[in-house]
Parts: sequence; structure tokens; C-alpha cells
Amino acid sequence: MIKQKFLSVAAAVGVALIVSACAENPSTETNEKATSAVHVSQQVEKSCMGCHAVDQGGKLERIESVRKSPEGWSQTIARMERTHGLTITDEEREQLITDLSRERGLAPEEAEKVQYWLANKPSYAEPDPKNESVAQSCINCHAAGRFEAQRRTEEEWKNLKDFHLVSYPSIYLNHRHMDWPQEADKAIEYLAKNYGVESKVWDQWKGNEYDVSGKWKVVGFQGTKGFYLGESEFTKADDRYSEKKSVKFLTGQETKQLNGDMKIYTGYMLRSHYKQNDHKINGFYNVTSENLIKGDWSYKEDLGISGEETYYKVQTENPEIIHSEPRAWRKGSVNKVTFYGMNLNKLEEKDLNLPKGVELTKLTAVSDEQLTAEVKVDKKAESHMFVINGGQAAVHGKFTVYDQADYLKIEPSYGVSRMGGAGPMDKMSIQYVAYAYSHGKDGKKETEDDLKLGPVPAEWSLLPYPEGAEGRDDRPYIGKIAADGLYTPSVEGVNEEREFVQENVGSATVVAKAKVDGKELTVKSHHITTVPDYVNNIH
Ligand code: HEC
Ligand code: HEC
Repeated sequence: MIKQKFLSVAAAVGVALIVSACAENPSTETNEKATSAVHVSQQVEKSCMGCHAVDQGGKLERIESVRKSPEGWSQTIARMERTHGLTITDEEREQLITDLSRERGLAPEEAEKVQYWLANKPSYAEPDPKNESVAQSCINCHAAGRFEAQRRTEEEWKNLKDFHLVSYPSIYLNHRHMDWPQEADKAIEYLAKNYGVESKVWDQWKGNEYDVSGKWKVVGFQGTKGFYLGESEFTKADDRYSEKKSVKFLTGQETKQLNGDMKIYTGYMLRSHYKQNDHKINGFYNVTSENLIKGDWSYKEDLGISGEETYYKVQTENPEIIHSEPRAWRKGSVNKVTFYGMNLNKLEEKDLNLPKGVELTKLTAVSDEQLTAEVKVDKKAESHMFVINGGQAAVHGKFTVYDQADYLKIEPSYGVSRMGGAGPMDKMSIQYVAYAYSHGKDGKKETEDDLKLGPVPAEWSLLPYPEGAEGRDDRPYIGKIAADGLYTPSVEGVNEEREFVQENVGSATVVAKAKVDGKELTVKSHHITTVPDYVNNIH
């Protein structure tokens, strides 16, 4: 239970002061006010009001002037336990996260941009925070997602700066190339203006909740293994769901059976825990409508093994194409295409409204869920990306008409893998994927009209980094790349066999070679293997 009763936490800067004041002088007046209305929920009152009083505006101080994701609340609660002595059971913690993210959560529009952080996507190149001071003073230690996934009053944004100064005084030292407090002030001003606690989208969303019970079709993509299709069924019990999912990869015969336990937070944020053989998998999905769920999953023991998934609600009315292979169609060719989906025996050619110069020459039903087609594209058709709509059919995804594959790109473009596995820290692998691109209309590389054609199978290898650097080659120590592009880093700790007795950190050049449209293409990118992610593991 709470040790320090009725401690007022007006400002983070006075933590030490407040704690001693509270021990000597518990304020019963605050307590009376606090119990006059339910703040957030009964569990929040029980667990939090021992320290957080009601402010002059009648709100639970600190707590009711911020909004966060379930992950954000979980991290804050963990700090209350770790640094301030809050004691709660696992059930109480779960109830707190549920209540707080329901009453003080994020709207779907607010969460969309920070999905990479919520889903813990380690190799994702973070979007530019669009403010120089934020870039300078806030994203050296953690991702921008950590604060962009929050909404605060101006005062609460200001408290954050003080909180950092009190909790991490070394911030002065590791930012001695700038005046951190001054730079942070400017960052905070920007954040207060753009990430305020009041928002229309939140007012509109709050209180809504999706029910995902029933059958769904799944389309997924797992980097090195490619696309897969599957079936899933959610069964509701109290406020949780169980899920049975089976998937099959399009290339090869590999199948997966997953049993999941999940819950929807804030009415739409679906968080899943799966078991698949010996693996534990976490899923971070958003229900975006009655018929659509989108999200990401990753292995608990290795965040680098991950994938993306979209769920489409099973319906029996209309034809619906949920995946097409390939979606990039070459000019002057007859492209063999497979469409996957539902009720496809009802699909008629007129349902597929194709752009000029693109013609469906043959449509053959394999089953209700699969069609093969021949798509003839005129030499003179326009190179572009398009969506297909029309008729009674729904066609998901974007399609491309292109001239020829001109170059490759590797994703992630700058791969950071992390050593692990020797101690409590897990390894973080990287799934490298090569994508083919076409120059587009202007015939030039890396311009806006370039067309991304899709992932292509590639041959993977490593070269030293920098290439040809004399006397230095980290490759024997830092890890291995498999034939399919999966990079597995070495264990952490000092390697006695390495010159100067170093850790297994270092760089390599990743090389992908692929034959696309009869052309040999090669691309290189920079890989590093670094220390485990200690910051992300602070909760
Ligand atoms: C034992 C005392 C104590 C308890 C109990 C406690 N807190 Fe706190 N809380 C603090 C202190 C001290 C601070 C200021 C320092 C900090 O932010 O870590 C704080 C700060 C906060 C903040 C502001 C942090 C931020 O920057 O967003 C939030 C939100 C918060 N607490 C939520 C909660 C919730 C929710 C509970 C109940 C589950 C809770 N606290 C229970 C002591 C407590
Ligand atoms: C010196 C490294 C460092 C810098 C620079 C830094 N942070 Fe942090 N920040 C941390 C650490 C460590 C935590 C984790 C605190 C915890 O949860 O225990 C944190 C936590 C946070 C949180 C979560 C607090 C909560 O309870 O919700 C937010 C939001 C945040 N930082 C925003 C910022 C902003 C905005 C800036 C720039 C003004 C910034 N940080 C700069 C290290 C840093």
C-alpha cells in the first residue's frame, strides 16, 4: 500500500522537498476535497490519491492534466512504483492502465503518427520532429514518440523539463555543447502549442469502443519471409478476447498457428499476447473501423523479428480483394496476377475499374478466395500508382504501372542491431528487405515520381565498413547475415579474442543483389551492431 499518505505532487522539481514535507505534515484538508468526486476511476483514487491531491480546478493533479497511451501510462505507473514507492498488485496495475487510457487516452488520429513508438519498432527511422529545439534537446536519449504520444497542459509540459533536471542532473553534462535548460524551454514552448491536452478529436472519440468478436481474414508481411495470409477468430470474455489465428506464407509452405489473449484499450487500441511454439509475441494493433484492424507484432525476445498485419472482417455479401500478388505491373507485358480475398466467385470484370492502357485479359477462379488473372499493360500506358475501385467489389491496396525496375533500396536503410543474449538483455536482430524501384516518368533516380515496386528476393552478403578500410574488419565479431536477409548480432560482453579486447560492436556494409525484370541490380547500406537498448528498457 501507499506509504506516504496525502503527499501533494504539485511539481516534479520539488520531489525531495515534498516527500519530506509529506512525512511530517499530512494534509487532511486535501483528502476531504479529493474524496468528494470520483477522479478517473475508483482504482485510480485508491492507488494514486495518497500522493496526488485535487488541484484548485477540481482535478487530480498531474494525472488529469495529461493524456497518454496505455504504454505511456504503464511507464508512468512503473516509475511511481520504482521511485516513489507505490505498491500495487498485477491486477490493480492492469485496472489502472485500462481506466487511465480510457479516461485520459489518445484519439485514433493522435496515435497514428506514433504507432512506431507504441509498437516498439526499433529500426524505424523516426520522422523529423519539425522543431530544431526538440531535435537538439529531446531526442538524444529517447524517441520523439515518447512525448509525441502524450498530450499535456502547458504547465505539465513545463513540469517535464523540471522532472528531467531533477531525475537526470547529468543532462547538463551530456548536453554541455548547448545550454540545455534554455534549449528545452524552446522545445517545451513548441510542444505546449502543438500537443495540448484539449483536442476535438479526443472529445469526439472518448467513450467509443469497438467490438472485434467474430471471424477475420488476415494479410501480413514479415520482412525476410514475405507476405502471408490467414484466418482469425476473436472470442470475447469479460473485457478481454481470445484469438485463434492461423497463417500461411505465400512463398513456401510455412504455416503458423497462434493463440492470443488480448484487450482493447481506449476503445480501439488492441494489444495482444500470443504464444507460438516457444515464442512469445506481442501485437500492437488499432481497430480503425468495424471491418478493419491494422498493426504490428514483434517477438518478445527479439524486437527485430516483427511484421505488419491487416485484418478484414469476414463478410458474405460482396467480392473483396484483400491482397494481390504482384501489385506492380509492367508495361508492354502480360502480367500474371493472383488476387486473394472473399466472395471472389461473385467478382466480375466490370468490378475492376482499371486505368487506361491496362486490360484484364483473363480471369480464372481458383476458389472463392483466390483468382488468377492476366493483366496486359500497353507500352504507352502512364507510369503511376493507382487504386482500383468500381462496381460492388472492394479492392484494397495500391497498384503500380511501371516501365522497368531501375534500382534497389534496402530497408531499414541504416540498420541498428543490438547485442544481447548473454545476460538479461535480449538480442535485437534486423530483417533486411530489398525493394525494387522504378525511376518513374522523369527517368531519374531518387525523385518524387519514383515508384516503389515491392519487395524482391535478394542474395545477401556483408563487406567491411568502410569498404576497403585497411586493417579493420568488424565482420568476424559483430554477427551474421542469413541467406534471406536476417541479421543476427553476437552476444554482448567483452570478447577476449578481439584485438584490444573489445565488445562485439562495429559496422559492416550490407549488400543485396537481385535479378528483377531480367536485370542484375545491387545495393549497399550501412549496418551497425551496438550495445543493448538500456534506455528503452527503463520503465
Ligand atoms: C508514493 C507517492 C505517489 C503515488 C502513490 C503516485 N504518485 Fe504519481 N507522482 C509522484 C511524484 C513524487 C511525482 C513527481 C515526480 C515524477 O514525475 O516522477 C509524480 C508524478 C506523476 C505524474 C506526472 C508525470 C508526468 O510527467 O507525466 C503522473 C501522471 C503521475 N504521477 C501519475 C500517477 C498515477 C496514475 C498514480 C496511481 C497509479 C500515481 N501517480 C501514484 C508520487 C506518487
Ligand atoms: C538525458 C537524456 C534525456 C533527454 C535529453 C530527455 N529525456 Fe525525456 N526521459 C529520459 C528518461 C531516462 C526518461 C524515463 C523516465 C522514467 O520513466 O523513469 C524520460 C522520460 C520522458 C517522458 C515520459 C515521462 C512520463 O512519465 O510520461 C517524456 C514525456 C519525456 N521524457 C520528454 C522529454 C522531452 C520533451 C525532452 C526535451 C525537452 C526530453 N524528454 C529530453 C531521458 C531524457
